[in-house]
Amino acid sequence: MAADIKEKILQLKKQKDVVILGHYYQIPEIQDISDYVGDSLALAQKAVETDKSIILFCGVHFMGETAKILNPKKKVIIPDLNAGCSLADSCQYEEFKQFKAQYPNHIVISYVNCSAKIKTLSDIICTSGNALQIVNSLPKNQKIIFAPDKNLGGYINRMTGRNMVLYHGSCEVHDLLTAEYTLKMKQQYPNYVMIAHPECNDAVLQLADYVGSTQGMIKFVKESKEKNFLVATENGILHKLQNDNPDKNFVVVTQNPSCACNDCRHMKLNTMEKVLASLEEEKYEINLDEQIIADARKPIEKMLEISKKLGIIK
Ligand code: 13P
Ligand code: SF4
Repeated sequence: MAADIKEKILQLKKQKDVVILGHYYQIPEIQDISDYVGDSLALAQKAVETDKSIILFCGVHFMGETAKILNPKKKVIIPDLNAGCSLADSCQYEEFKQFKAQYPNHIVISYVNCSAKIKTLSDIICTSGNALQIVNSLPKNQKIIFAPDKNLGGYINRMTGRNMVLYHGSCEVHDLLTAEYTLKMKQQYPNYVMIAHPECNDAVLQLADYVGSTQGMIKFVKESKEKNFLVATENGILHKLQNDNPDKNFVVVTQNPSCACNDCRHMKLNTMEKVLASLEEEKYEINLDEQIIADARKPIEKMLEISKKLGIIK
C-alpha cells in the first residue's frame, strides 16, 4: 500500500512536470520522494532555480508563500492548508505595523518564518542559515528591528554585541525546551555533544556545544569526529543525520520525558496520502495578491543577493 502511494507520487510528479521541495522536518517518507530536501534557505533558492511548471512544497504555509513570491507565474501547491507555523502566527500584520511605527529610523530584518504580509513590512528577510552574516553585513550603527523570533534575535544580539529591537514571537517546538530538562539529559548522556537550533531559548542555547541552522547542524555533525550527539531541535532532522552518519548516535532533547520526539504538529500534518491527493488534484494552491507579491519579493531578493555576495549560497 505504502509502496503503491510512493509509486503513484513518483509517476504523477514526472507526468505533471512537478518539482517536490521537502523541508528536513517532513516525515522520512516525504523527504525520500522529494526532489530536493533542505532548510528554508536552500529550498527558497531551489524555488528560484526550478524550471518545472508546478512546485509542490512539503513544509508549512509560509514556505509555500515564499516559493510563490519567488515564482509568481508558477503554480505552487501544498499538501495541507492547515500546516501553519506558531512563529509566523505570533506576528500579525496590524500589531506588527504598530510595533514598527514605534521605532522610526530602524530597518526591519524578518526571519523567513513569517507571513507574506509581514514580509511586505520588512527590508531584508533572513533564515537561520544566514541571519548572523546578514546582520553582520550592516553598518554597526544601523538601527534594526528583528522579527518575529525573539530567540533567534537574542542569539544574534549576543553573538554580534548589537542591540536590535526584538519582536516577541517564538516557535512552540523550540521555545518549549527547558534548561532544566536539558540539563537532566546532559547528565544522563554525559559524553554527548549538544547541538541546538537558535530558535531555542537562551537558557537552552547556553548549554549547547554548537548552535546553528538545520543545515549548519547537519554539516557540523558530518565533519565532527565525535560519535554521540544530543539534538535540540525538531525531530525530522534525525532522518538526514542518521542517513549521513550511520555510525553515530543521536538523542533528541525533548521537554517531555514521556515522549521520545520533538515533532512540529504543523510540519507533521503532511502525509504521503495528502501529497498524492495534492498531485492528483493540484491542490492546495497558494494564491497571493499581486501587490503583496511585489512588495514581499524585494526583501527576499535582498536576502538572496547578500547571501550570494557573502558566498553563503552560490
Ligand atoms: P531552518 O530550516 O531555516 O533551519 O528553520 C527551522 C524551522 O523551524 C523551519 O520552520
Ligand atoms: Fe514553525 Fe516551529 Fe514548526 Fe518551524 S518548527 S514550522 S518555526 S512551529
